[in-house]
Amino acid sequence: MRHLSVPDPVGLHDLLPQTARLDGSGMTIGECEVAALAAAYGTPLYVYDEHTLRDQARSILAVFPAQHATVSFASKACDLMGVMAVLRAEGLNLDVVSEGQIEAGILAGFPPDRMHLHGNAKSDAELELAANLGLRAIVLDGLDEFERLDRLARTLNKSIRVLLRLTLAIEAETHPHMQTSGYRSKFGVPDTDAEYGAAVRRILGSPCLQLEGLHVHLGSQIRDQTLYRHAAERLLVLAQEAQSLGAPIGELSVGGGWAVASMPGDTSLAPAAVAHALECVFQSPYHLGIEPGRALVARAAVALYTVRSVKSMDSHRVVAVDGGMGDNPRPALYGARYTAFAPYRKALSTGLADVVGRFCESGDVLAKDVLLPEIAPGDLLCMPMAGAYHLSMASTYNLVPTPAAIMVREGDAHLIQRRGTVHDILSRQVRL
Ligand SMILES: Cc1ncc(COP(=O)(O)O)c(C=O)c1O
Repeated sequence: MRHLSVPDPVGLHDLLPQTARLDGSGMTIGECEVAALAAAYGTPLYVYDEHTLRDQARSILAVFPAQHATVSFASKACDLMGVMAVLRAEGLNLDVVSEGQIEAGILAGFPPDRMHLHGNAKSDAELELAANLGLRAIVLDGLDEFERLDRLARTLNKSIRVLLRLTLAIEAETHPHMQTSGYRSKFGVPDTDAEYGAAVRRILGSPCLQLEGLHVHLGSQIRDQTLYRHAAERLLVLAQEAQSLGAPIGELSVGGGWAVASMPGDTSLAPAAVAHALECVFQSPYHLGIEPGRALVARAAVALYTVRSVKSMDSHRVVAVDGGMGDNPRPALYGARYTAFAPYRKALSTGLADVVGRFCESGDVLAKDVLLPEIAPGDLLCMPMAGAYHLSMASTYNLVPTPAAIMVREGDAHLIQRRGTVHDILSRQVRL
């Protein structure tokens, strides 16, 4: 049986940026008319709402106050500097995973001591950049990396703060590609006595590396808050073990991964529920670290597409748009589900349609079984919950340039990423 995605107004509203207004004959976001934005900037277009970004940040900071917790934005969810700058202004720290994200963070105004570096295969150059800039911490992913970082710290004669990333025997119920814990994970050091104990001893033997905390990230789209409690309880035990060996553990980080809804009727994991599950850390002597990504930015943006063709097959329509897996690979990568609607069509729906992308892959389906009105080439389609892991995962597959992104606020729109061009792409190639 086909699953129906019915964009009922109440559910749909919760998926849209907070300033979105839909009146049946049009739509505004941040007091900007969406059709005018599409005309001015072209489509596909990603429209970020500054108000929603700020509000999401504030509501997370309200339940994770600074005296108990450090909230870092996991920039892999969205590494647009314009978005980072807004979250920096709201007081968040930044979690980065590459030289590019370190540079973007600096350009977005983050002082290095508000950034920490993750990654399971960091390059020497990335470690050196992080060390020279004096990032708040480098999250050590394993003993091979420890060897490299220790050598580097001795060469540079620098003291470097590290967190040790652990993988726990907790497997989150989510798509396997979004699971990052469990002992077969490629991330971190298993928390077993032998491996954890050896890692702690090795780090403590280094005169240059300070083991200031422990880190886990269980995975993404986690809906069950009790997993965070289990992780935190385990970290508390492990922290005491490390301290008894002499490690100056101050921080326990449980990463990010809070589920967001992407369809009407979906559930999400509220920041307050996560905070409640982490009470045991608030009541401990340790400072809590959290790294939400999608929970901060997913709802802040919509993707606008223009319909290019409509085909009817067995009373089912296939609506092809001018973007697709090049700007949103999540349906193909994780089976992620989305909804879509036509903001400038009055009738609510006339039947089911699959919204497909323009890329040469059968798997390039953006939204399946969406109820759409009568629709024709040239119509605008809006896909909500487009702020996280779309543009940051975008590719130029088929040599199609990546879309533009804008930030809207109180009637003003600012370009935060220009549309790519064919020249951008081809200029890197060499014709023999
Ligand atoms: C270490 C780490 N922290 C935080 C996140 C953010 O996850 P989410 O966007 O699901 O909150 C990720 C995502 O992959 C991650 O790997």
